[in-house]
Order: sequence, then structure tokens, then C-alpha cells
Amino acid sequence: MSDVLPATMTAIGYDTPGGPEVLRATTLPVPRPDAGQVLVQVAFAGVNRPDVIQRQGFYPPPPGASPVPGLEIAGTIAALGEGVGPELLGQEVCALVTGGGYAEFCLADARHCLPVPEGLTLAEAAALPETLFTVWHNVFERGYAGEGETLLVHGGTSGIGTTAILLGKAFGLTVVTTCGSDEKCAAARDLGADLAINYRTQDFVEHTRAFTHGRGADVVLDMVSGSYVARNLEALAEDGRHVTIAVLGGLTAEINMAKVMAKRLVLTGSTLRARPDAFKALLADEIANQVWPLVEEGRLRPVMDRTFPLGEAPAAHARMEAGAHIGKIVLAVA
Ligand SMILES: NC(=O)c1ccc[n+]([C@@H]2O[C@H](COP(=O)([O-])OP(=O)(O)OC[C@H]3O[C@@H](n4cnc5c(N)ncnc54)[C@H](OP(=O)(O)O)[C@@H]3O)[C@@H](O)[C@H]2O)c1
Repeated sequence: MSDVLPATMTAIGYDTPGGPEVLRATTLPVPRPDAGQVLVQVAFAGVNRPDVIQRQGFYPPPPGASPVPGLEIAGTIAALGEGVGPELLGQEVCALVTGGGYAEFCLADARHCLPVPEGLTLAEAAALPETLFTVWHNVFERGYAGEGETLLVHGGTSGIGTTAILLGKAFGLTVVTTCGSDEKCAAARDLGADLAINYRTQDFVEHTRAFTHGRGADVVLDMVSGSYVARNLEALAEDGRHVTIAVLGGLTAEINMAKVMAKRLVLTGSTLRARPDAFKALLADEIANQVWPLVEEGRLRPVMDRTFPLGEAPAAHARMEAGAHIGKIVLAVA
């Protein structure tokens, strides 16, 4: 199949980090898959906050990753590397990738692909991998969230937040979330959040504790850090788990370690992109078994904000940075 591939493709790149306007269309060679990889003809690429942080110059691609932004894609497998089963050729898949998504073709590890079931559009499929892998790993594997427990997730209408609400409810959690406006709180409640707290007008510690009859949340999924960490610990129940996935509100935190002892708290966190391929393959397997049946049955769909053509990647980034979006932004490539 690779002999019918074009030699070059359009991709989005930038010369130097900066604002959304540094993103521009460029022509690059179509990559060829190595052993264990597939080449996906991209139909849609998801836009994530880490792409914005990469473009700003604060989140460089890990060694070996494409400098082209884009951590998740959906499309059709157009070529196979050595050792990949021939049945995959022509399949519609979505995939978690370490970069390169904002392009007409993108390489993916065959083990990091999930089949696109009937009823799921390719735009929706492209909006799933990054937040699904992140939320599954951090809430359920690191945070050990179990049925009947309470999850507190900040940024309830973000890509991560909407996925955390949907997954949390699908797996029997009570979900408390914080958002920056009443409109966003209403959207979070519509998605199934049991309580949505406007953090600009309400104290999330007080409201989480009151909602849980003084007990507190069992797991906090935190993307804010900074001054939020001490408050999150206040909002946690005994034996609570604090999981950090981003530091949007500040890199450092001052916390009372006596509270960690007294409440037997666990503090953990992770970043997905730099994890080894073998780890991501295990995670993909876990998601295929535990979560994908919900997608196949139509019971789990990403919350879609807006679709922009690939060439309008600057506008897509500007929308994300303005913070008015609810759910996922995607780029239409094909
Ligand atoms: N560790 C990992 O593996 C991993 C993987 C993927 C993403 N992430 C991180 O997760 C975060 C969310 O990603 P995303 O793609 O879902 O981004 P997004 O849709 O742009 O969401 C960002 C959210 O952060 C909230 N926020 C920002 N600053 C805040 C503050 N100071 N206080 C309270 N809330 C604040 C905003 O909520 P309001 O608009 O309601 O204020 C917004 O909903 C990003 O930082 C990203 O880098 C981490």
C-alpha cells in the first residue's frame, strides 16, 4: 500500500514558540511506518491544552516524537509497518500518538489504536484518546476510584473534566466538579455531575464537604495545583487520593504534612505523553476491555465543542486559550 502514498503532505507547524498565530500550514514528507507502527490517513485531530502549552514553548515533544502538534487522531490506516497484522489495513481507528496529529498522515503504534465502532463519528473518535487514557489511568489506576466513591474534578467543562464526569458516572462514582462560570456549572450538571461549584463565587472545599456530609471526596483529579493543593487536601476524606495531572495554577504548593498523616492521604500524579510505548499499550488494552464497550453501545460519547478546518488551527488554539469552550475542539483534516 505504501507505494500509492503521496510523497508529501500538509501539516501544521511553527518556527518559533509564540501565540496561536505562529501556527502555519507546511509541507512535510509523508512518514513511513517502522516495525509495529501504522500510518493513519487523518480525518480529524483532537486539540488539547498540552498542544497549546507545546506551541507556547513550555512542553517540548519527548525524544523521537514528531515536532508537529497533535496527540490524538482518527482516520483510516493507510500503511503498515513490519509485524502489523494485514487485517488492519483500511480500518478506521482512533489513536493516541506522541505528536504529529495536525497533519494529513500520522504514525501511530498499532497497539495504541482503537477501532471506530458504528455510530461513532470520526470527529468524535478523534476527541477521545487523550482524555480517555489520561482520566482512566489517573482516576481509576492511580486514584483507585471505586464504585460508590466521590470524585472531585476541577475544570469540569474542559476536555479532561467532561471525560472525567462521563467516565465517573459510567463507573458508579459521585462526581463533584468546579467550573469558572454558572453557565459552565449548568453544562457540567447536564453531563451528569452531581454537584457543580462555581469556584469564582463559591468555596469548593466548603461545598464539597457539605455535599458529602462532612466526609470529603475520596479522589481529587487536579489540573490546577499551586494554592489548590492545600485546599484539595482539606476537601479530601480520610484515606483520600490526590492526583495531579497539570499545574495550571502554579508549580509549587505548601501543604501541612501533619494532615497527610492524620488523614492517611496519598499524593500522586502522572504525565501521559512521555510514558513508554509498552505502558500505553497496556493502558489501551485496559481501555479496550473496560471502556470501549460503552463507546460501542453508544453509552459514552465525547462532549464536542467546535470543529475547525486544519488550516484554521490558530483559531482553534485561540478558542481554547480564551477558555469559552465546553468539551473538545477538533480539527477536520480530510
Ligand atoms: N498529565 C497528563 O497526562 C495530562 C494529559 C492531558 C491533559 N493534561 C492537562 O490537563 C489540563 C486540561 O487539559 P484540557 O485539554 O482538558 O484543557 P482545557 O479544555 O483547556 O481545560 C483547562 C481547564 O482548566 C481550568 N482552569 C485553568 N486555570 C484554572 C485555575 N487557575 N483555577 C481553576 N480552573 C482552572 C479551566 O476551567 P474554567 O474555564 O472553568 O475556569 C479549563 O476548563 C491541561 O493543563 C493539560 O495540560 C494532562
